[in-house]
Amino acid sequence: MRNIFYLTLLITNLACSADTVVKLDDANIDLNDGLSIQRGARTYINYCLGCHQASYMRFNRLGDIGLSKEQIKEHLILGQQKIGSPMLNNMSKEDAESWFGVLPPDLSVIARSRGADWLYTYLRSFYRDSKTATGWNNLLFPNVGMPHILWEIQGVLTLKASDLDETRGELAVISKGHLNKIEYDGFVRDLVNYLVFMGEPARTLRVRIGIVILFALSIFLVLAWILKKEYWKDVTH
Ligand code: HEC
Repeated sequence: MRNIFYLTLLITNLACSADTVVKLDDANIDLNDGLSIQRGARTYINYCLGCHQASYMRFNRLGDIGLSKEQIKEHLILGQQKIGSPMLNNMSKEDAESWFGVLPPDLSVIARSRGADWLYTYLRSFYRDSKTATGWNNLLFPNVGMPHILWEIQGVLTLKASDLDETRGELAVISKGHLNKIEYDGFVRDLVNYLVFMGEPARTLRVRIGIVILFALSIFLVLAWILKKEYWKDVTH
């Protein structure tokens, strides 16, 4: 009897804690959409690279999404960096730590560790919070050290007064940004598409090669089957 009691307690506990986890929205990205990745790359370089390096990603890999060397040089490389250099910034560890408390992590493979849906939800979950050092907080990453960089684009959100529990809270717009909600979702989707691309730039090529190889193997399968029939013809008679 007692065991059943504990079991019920455990199950209700689990059910309650599952409730407090912020639900991730579906990023719904498309790695075959080169234009979306290009738009995301531009956003990354304009808004994120200043703090977040991507040291495993070289500018010239942007050629994989259909950009020419000239386009990359002209529109995406800021300052003196070369087309073959990795995406680095000039922020020193000491400065970063004194400004934000932590070093903004390298985002080269962030999409592999966090996943696209997490990133998509994170970049849409910042809200105003006067209690934090930056004045911003995030539903998915409570007390995050990063300010809401895209606030002018998204607008300013706040936790709904009726629901001040940040693990469940819902956000409401208090001042509008340049984009409406649907447009901002698309803007973030492009950025996440780029972050996923950056985690493995050769992915679409790898998938394409995989398909060709499977096709070639299936031809060999047929050949092997015909050959087998040929060999066993006399034996089975
Ligand atoms: C002003 C500097 C700054 C800018 C610009 C900035 N970030 Fe950040 N970001 C930070 C800091 C600092 C952290 C670490 C937060 C922490 O650990 O509390 C962070 C954390 C993150 C994380 C969470 C990493 C983890 O721990 O999993 C992601 C994802 C992220 N940033 C993405 C972005 C993207 C995408 C952009 C561009 C739209 C961007 N950031 C722009 C400072 C910045």
